[in-house]
Amino acid sequence: MRGVVFDGKRAEVVDDLVVRDPGPGEVLVAVSAAGLCHSDLSVVDGTIPFPAPVVLGHEGAGVVEAVGAGVAHVAPGDHVALSTLANCGTCADCDRGRPTMCRRAIGRPGRPFTRAGRPVFQFASNSAFAERTVVKAVQAVWIPQDVPLTSAALIGCGVLTGVGAVLNRARVDRGESVVVIGTGGIGLNVLQGARIAGAGRTVAVDANPAKESVARRFGATDFLASADGVRDLLPTGADHVFECVGRVELIRQAIDLLDRHGQAVLLGVPPATAEASFLVSSLYLDKSILGCRYGSSRPQRDIALYAALYREGRLLLDELVTRTYPVEDFEKAATDAEAGRVARAVLTF
Ligand SMILES: NC(=O)c1ccc[n+]([C@@H]2O[C@H](COP(=O)([O-])OP(=O)(O)OC[C@H]3O[C@@H](n4cnc5c(N)ncnc54)[C@H](O)[C@@H]3O)[C@@H](O)[C@H]2O)c1
Ligand SMILES: [Zn+2]
Ligand SMILES: [Zn+2]
Repeated sequence: MRGVVFDGKRAEVVDDLVVRDPGPGEVLVAVSAAGLCHSDLSVVDGTIPFPAPVVLGHEGAGVVEAVGAGVAHVAPGDHVALSTLANCGTCADCDRGRPTMCRRAIGRPGRPFTRAGRPVFQFASNSAFAERTVVKAVQAVWIPQDVPLTSAALIGCGVLTGVGAVLNRARVDRGESVVVIGTGGIGLNVLQGARIAGAGRTVAVDANPAKESVARRFGATDFLASADGVRDLLPTGADHVFECVGRVELIRQAIDLLDRHGQAVLLGVPPATAEASFLVSSLYLDKSILGCRYGSSRPQRDIALYAALYREGRLLLDELVTRTYPVEDFEKAATDAEAGRVARAVLTF
């Protein structure tokens, strides 16, 4: 079957990929569509270290093809959105509603694929850039069939991360001010999360001025090409600043823009050894810096909620899909994403 494999040097489309059958507690999914998140590009350029060879992709949706022993919540033919959390479901963190913190799942990549008999790693327990993938039962979340799979594909990372960061991690309240630095697939979902939460003034910042119309469409009340102008709009600072690019100088700016009791939420992923600095005195007034993995999500609960909000017209998904590309055109999709020509590039199978 076809898929996008990163061999440690470059990513290429191959057609000799094999995936094993689902074992107990696993689901085999025929992937219909998969979004290209910046984190996939960060594996290719080394920003996110991951063992190779690996099948990329971690934001997808498709149709259940087979289920392993003990899987009862989905059946062949069901449509599912895929999460990246292969959490165990039984540890103390899972049990208290923090599956993103499950110690039995993080940093233990599996190898359900082979090429010419040699094992190939699975990225983010997901690998949606393949015609078929095997995931744990907890990762396959049932969705209604009237949600187009090209749109549903974006829930599994962009929406869970961005909307989840607002609702689950920052817990933005009605009327509070929000600044979003970087309005790619993640930042746009922070913007619409802020709108759903009833936020007040919501300032989008992106170095690419072409992002203004889509940022406003997703909930920005103001748009700036640089964070330098934020104080003119919010003289006392912001209640919440989300860094959605992954650059240490923007993390510093996010902290410097906080109002009293404000919080900076770090979503962007700089290189693994990057260090950021801040003035200690700038945090005295009850300010916080929050890390956030995957929107602090609970995928079975949150994906169902987001599918419902989409059907009510309150969560935008179709508008994120700027363009679809057959998987063979992965390189074109990656170039368009790097150049900022798309909100999300979506691969189809
Ligand atoms: N924390 C998590 O769980 C999580 C999940 C998914 C992605 N991420 C990370 O989030 C980041 C964003 O991912 P994405 O898919 O939205 O990327 P993207 O490439 O779609 O968007 C990045 C945006 O940042 C803008 N930008 C670049 N430099 C800028 C600057 N100096 N100032 C202002 N804007 C600038 C670009 O124009 C673009 O619009 C990446 O670092 C990715 O690895 C984190
Ligand atoms: Zn992602
Ligand atoms: Zn667990």
